Amino acid sequence: MIQDKKVSFSGVQPSGNLSIGNYLGAIRNFSAFSEQYKCFYCVVDAHAITVRQVPADLRRRTYETLSLYMACGLDPEKNTLYVQSHVPAHAELAWALNCFTMFGELSRMTQFKDKSAKHSDNINAGLFTYPVLMAADILLYQTDVVPVGIDQKQHVELCRDIATRFNNVFPDTFTIPEPIIPKTGMKIMSLVEPTKKMSKSDENTNAVVYILDDRDTIIRKFKRAVTDSDTCVRYAEGKDGINNLMNIYATFTGKTHEEIEREFDGKGYGEFKLAVGEVCADAMQPVQQKFAAYMSDKAYLESVMKKGAEEASYYARKTLSKVHKKLGFVSLR
Ligand code: TYM
Repeated sequence: MIQDKKVSFSGVQPSGNLSIGNYLGAIRNFSAFSEQYKCFYCVVDAHAITVRQVPADLRRRTYETLSLYMACGLDPEKNTLYVQSHVPAHAELAWALNCFTMFGELSRMTQFKDKSAKHSDNINAGLFTYPVLMAADILLYQTDVVPVGIDQKQHVELCRDIATRFNNVFPDTFTIPEPIIPKTGMKIMSLVEPTKKMSKSDENTNAVVYILDDRDTIIRKFKRAVTDSDTCVRYAEGKDGINNLMNIYATFTGKTHEEIEREFDGKGYGEFKLAVGEVCADAMQPVQQKFAAYMSDKAYLESVMKKGAEEASYYARKTLSKVHKKLGFVSLR
């Protein structure tokens, strides 16, 4: 609780061009909490360096991610929007939490296993302890809810385990957070391999629809999406490509699978794919327009970053001092 309000926290890595998976699974849901919760939405640049980044790209994407937060409707007056590396308390709490996290727990994280298979030449300690930094992000703000896609559920569950362990030794330190996972849009799949999650870092750009893709590109990517040899638009086991497109269409339009099946009864895949591309392009157009306006005003973006970092630091330092005191660190006044 902060000022009698529950707290919402989430983060997005500025590690690639953001996809409609990031949008539907996470960012678009952040603003639902803005009125009733105290909200902290962070651009997690420190998480991004667990994989090698080109520094100039990381810097540009940090501005872009903040712009996208605002373009997707997050008002910096109602939400604390900031960059992780601007609030050193994240790294400091992560160290303390490292000492409350077990090697075995981190070894079981599926994202660690996937990323170490993908970057076998750089299985660094940061990649391994990544979920501990994420736990620090969440616990620093005494967070109640964490809106995320389903791929982050395991990390939020580990965060709960770490917080519970810490609280068992030092009672009443952390609020135990709940992951909030949307019913539709929780896992948008690749358009090329629909059994795999759509990932902003996929090398095959046809597999991913980026928030900033232009209308023609969006429609082209959906038209080429891998489906099956059936011709009827219906949700069924084994029809991963169509199921994914139906989920995307459902998330953009709010329609149920049955309504979609009725809408496209007797129509072929071509017509359905075009419709999915169109609703996606229509939804992205205002986001793209606002994004361009924010990106053209770097001074404004930096003022948002600065204000956000100051607000976040204030609450983060409170939790960190409490933790340090409980651990027995000497505080100098
Ligand atoms: P990241 O940057 O990979 O993704 C940001 C958010 O987008 C969601 N997401 C998806 N949702 C549906 N379908 C997809 N294909 C898809 N791809 C990504 C993710 O679930 C996430 O919510 N570790 C986090 C960032 C993070 C964080 C945090 C999140 C750092 N600290 C604290 C919450 C709280 C990550 O890598 O997200």
